[in-house]
Formats: sequence, C-alpha cells, structure tokens
Amino acid sequence: MNFNKIKSAVLGIGMAVPPKVLTNFDLEKMVDTSDEWITERTGIKERHVLEDGENISDYAIKAAKEALEKAEVSPEEINLIICATVTPDYIIPSLAVLVQDGIKASNAGAFDLSATCSGFIYSLIVADQFIKINPDWKILVIGAEALSRKTNWQDRTICVLLGDGAGAAVVGKSPDPEKRGIIDFYLGADGSCWPLLTLKGGGSCFPPFDERLPKEEFYIKMKGREVFKVATRMMEKICLDLLERNNFSPEDIKLLVPHQANLRIIEYLREKLGLPKEKVMVNINKYGNTSAASIPLALYEAEKEGRLKKGDLVLLVAFGGGFTYGGALLRW
Ligand code: ACO
Repeated sequence: MNFNKIKSAVLGIGMAVPPKVLTNFDLEKMVDTSDEWITERTGIKERHVLEDGENISDYAIKAAKEALEKAEVSPEEINLIICATVTPDYIIPSLAVLVQDGIKASNAGAFDLSATCSGFIYSLIVADQFIKINPDWKILVIGAEALSRKTNWQDRTICVLLGDGAGAAVVGKSPDPEKRGIIDFYLGADGSCWPLLTLKGGGSCFPPFDERLPKEEFYIKMKGREVFKVATRMMEKICLDLLERNNFSPEDIKLLVPHQANLRIIEYLREKLGLPKEKVMVNINKYGNTSAASIPLALYEAEKEGRLKKGDLVLLVAFGGGFTYGGALLRW
C-alpha cells in the first residue's frame, strides 16, 4: 500500500457552546477589570460558560452529532474517537468514552488526548496517521473544554481570558487526494517552560484537597507576558516552516486559522505573514480562549460564513501550556 498517496480530510464539522454568555461588563462586577482593558489587550468581548448541572460532555456529544450529520456518517461507522481536552468531566472515565456512549458509536475505540490549546491539531494528526494505515476508518476528532470549571474567578489575570465550548470533526480518507486533505503538519513541545502555565492541583503530585498546595493552585495560572513572547515566535516559525517546505508562500493561503488566545498574537502573526484581514479567521471576540476547542470553533464558523470552501488551502496553528505547539497545512 502506498501510504503517501492516502490523505485524510475533514468530512464534516460541528460545534456546540453553552448558551450562558458572560460579557466583559459582567466581569467588571466580579474583578477589578474593565471592558476597555480586556478588549484592548485581548480582543475578547464575551465568552460562553457552563451553568450548574451542565457538563462539557453534553456539548461534545452535540458537536459530534452535528459533525456526523454533515459528513453523512453514522455513529456505527466511527472506528475511533479522540477527544482533545484538559478539562474532561472526570479523570476516569475519559471524555471520549462519554461521547462514545452518548452517540452510540458501538464500533469505536475512544481516548482523550492532553495537549492544551494544541490538542485539536495533535488529535487531527493522530487521526491522520490511523487513516493512512486504515484508509476505510472514520475518526471523530473533538476539541472540548470546560475551562470555566478550572478558573479562579477572583484572579483577573486569567478569568477574563477563558471560555467553554466544543467542536468536532469527522475525519476520513479524502475522496480526492489531489484536491482535498492534510498535506503536512508540525508538532512540537518545550517542557522546560511548563511553570509558565499550570494547573497543579488535582493531579497525582498534589491530589484533590492536598493542603500542601495553596488553594489558587487548583485553578489555571499563567504568566501571560512570558507566554505571549514564546507564542508569537513559535506560531510564526511553524507557519513559515510549513509553507516553505511545501513550496507555498503566504499569499497562497486562503485562510489562516490560528488558535484564538489573544487578538494581538493573531494580529502579530497576520502582519508577519503579510496577510490581509479577510484571510485570517478571528472569533475570539465571541468565545475567548477555549483551548482545544478553539480551532474547530473557528473552522466551523469560517465554513458557515462561506470563508472556507472545498479545496481551499488552509493553515492551522496553535500554541498552549506545556508548552505544546502544532500546525497543519491542508486543503479543506
Ligand atoms: N484587568 C485589568 N488589568 C489587568 C488585568 C485585567 N483583567 N489582568 C492584568 N492586569 C494588569 C496587570 O496587573 C498589569 O498591571 P501592572 O502593570 O500594574 O503590573 C498590567 O495589567 C499589564 O499586565 P500584563 O500581564 O503585562 O498584560 P499583557 O499586555 O501581557 O496582557 C495577557 C496579558 C492578555 C494575558 C497576554 O499576556 C496574553 O495573551 N498572553 C498569552 C496568552 C496565551 O497565548 N496563552 C496560551 C494558551 S492558554 C492555555 O493553554 C490554556
């Protein structure tokens, strides 16, 4: 079998976010911040958050069902479910098995993948490898996060940034590998930077209720300024490397879909690549940083808005805690 000739493609995409919206003005009442500061520094205006009694699995299942419908694939045809998340409902079982049960994917294996904000790209590339070996497989790749449940609502340096949501893609063999499918990818990590973005409490080092750890360490903490510097440098490098080694230049891209962490990071990248605004997907204003859900939410809305058509050259790029980073160059 010539593995190189087989390409995987996104056959259908879905998304779901909790209806509850928290605006910058709502946050002004909770912490010492302002709509002006948040908008200027991040581009975020509002974010969706889970209400009591809801779980992110509800939305991962909803997004998965929509992706299946769009791809015209039945749950029984799914061979594997990969859920990118750092905020699953439980430690055991995984979010992926809750989705498996929720959509009745009776022939699927299921596992979670933890790679913070790069999780969706990592999962897409893992799916791509499975499809090269098993070309008839159909794989559900999901990015889903309940970041609000790991947010310290008294810490203004983080609570204004994060949001909840889920996006799902059915990935399978490209029906036309010349015109559609994943062309190349970039995966990377730098574990030496891990102290810059952490959620220490609740793991096996500091189990829940461990009193050695201050209470605020049971929530996500970030040294934003330091993360910003590495994020801009790495995202630019990934984009340029992927384009160069595949003999493309930035103007060949139909749409750049960057992880939605900060509008200033996205703008920096856009300027470095010399792209006009219409070639860069931005929806951070509505959802904030949804970590692994950010790229599928952006892809979904880009397609819905008619900015992404079959065969278009798309560049995905993400960066997150760890650090992890990833990129994918594909024809939609
Ligand atoms: N409202 C008002 N003031 C604030 C707020 C707030 N919400 N948060 C911080 N400030 C203050 C700070 O205390 C500081 O005050 P000081 O100058 O008196 O000390 C001032 O604003 C500037 O703070 P900075 O942290 O330097 O602000 P910066 O311009 O760097 O913006 C931000 C902060 C938005 C976090 C930015 O650094 C960023 O986006 N970083 C990268 C985030 C990222 O890419 N993360 C990766 C993925 S996330 C994940 O994996 C879950």
